[in-house]
Amino acid sequence: MGESLCNAFFRSRIMNDRKRSIGLWAIALYISRLFGKSQRYTPEEWREIMKSHPYIPAGEDGVRSPCPVLNTFANHGFLPRNGRNITKKQLVDWFKMLGVKESMAGPFVSGVFYLYRRPSTPRSWKNPLGMASTIDLDWLDTHGLIEHDVSLSRRDANIPPYDAVHVVPEYVNQMVQIAQKSHLGIEPVEFDLANYFDHRKLRWLTCIEENPKLDFSFVRQVSAAAEAQVFLQTIGRNDKIPISQLCSFFMEEKIPEDWYPIAKPMSITKSQISVVRYIRGVKKSKATLDMLNDTETAGE
Ligand code: HEM
Repeated sequence: MGESLCNAFFRSRIMNDRKRSIGLWAIALYISRLFGKSQRYTPEEWREIMKSHPYIPAGEDGVRSPCPVLNTFANHGFLPRNGRNITKKQLVDWFKMLGVKESMAGPFVSGVFYLYRRPSTPRSWKNPLGMASTIDLDWLDTHGLIEHDVSLSRRDANIPPYDAVHVVPEYVNQMVQIAQKSHLGIEPVEFDLANYFDHRKLRWLTCIEENPKLDFSFVRQVSAAAEAQVFLQTIGRNDKIPISQLCSFFMEEKIPEDWYPIAKPMSITKSQISVVRYIRGVKKSKATLDMLNDTETAGE
């Protein structure tokens, strides 16, 4: 009798716990639906939008960042064309346009604003600490915040010419050559995940030789993997991108005519798993510096 009462008590507790956790899941799902929206466009809708967003690279008063994607969208006026005074809302809306959910974009953008916080004047009752409420693209050049060594397309900040903002065409060329070599006879040539692993590994090995102050610690590897993963999954599709589009984004910082935002928003879980995959893939890549000579001769 006592035992069955006990059993009944625990059974009802387990049931209550289950109901509670189902309730919590339902609430979480509701909230994530509420805040998890991303913008979606058909290719035709996107073509219409692009008509009012011509490509105009930064003028003399404009500033740009080490991020090819932010620069590209500033060049088309989706972000302020001069690269200055960008608000949180502008960045979150831009992320949503790219197909990133607000539930992911919001916290990320808040983190960015926290990282690059700067005192501003005048202080107000709304902003008593006088924190800057906007950012400029050239602030992102601060080495060691998001900007890191072993970039895909930029030189390390600590080695001459001390410029981590402007693209180094040889590095983009290296990506193209790696992709071409591994997809001989296939058109259109795409830069895929295996190519990414090899290119990053080669950049890493080169930076070890060139940069006495190299920092590519685990935290930096996570940033690098996250950038590459968002790029190959929202600008590219399924971890790859045609080399024509890759060059357009990295070299000209221009939206290619045959590109439009992804239809299905990126999932947070998939994105986190991908980051691990991207880090491990680079470590496992068998690329060696000898491969650089091969890619150079292949381009001649
Ligand atoms: C608030 C939004 C963003 C900020 C503040 C930001 C900032 C940065 C910074 C500072 C870098 C330089 C890292 C380095 O040293 O290599 C970078 C690189 C990069 N970002 Fe962004 N980014 C943003 C959004 C995005 C988005 C949405 C994408 C892709 C869809 C993207 C793709 C990339 C890529 C591929 C690189 C690597 C460039 C290279 O290694 O040469 N970024 N980003």
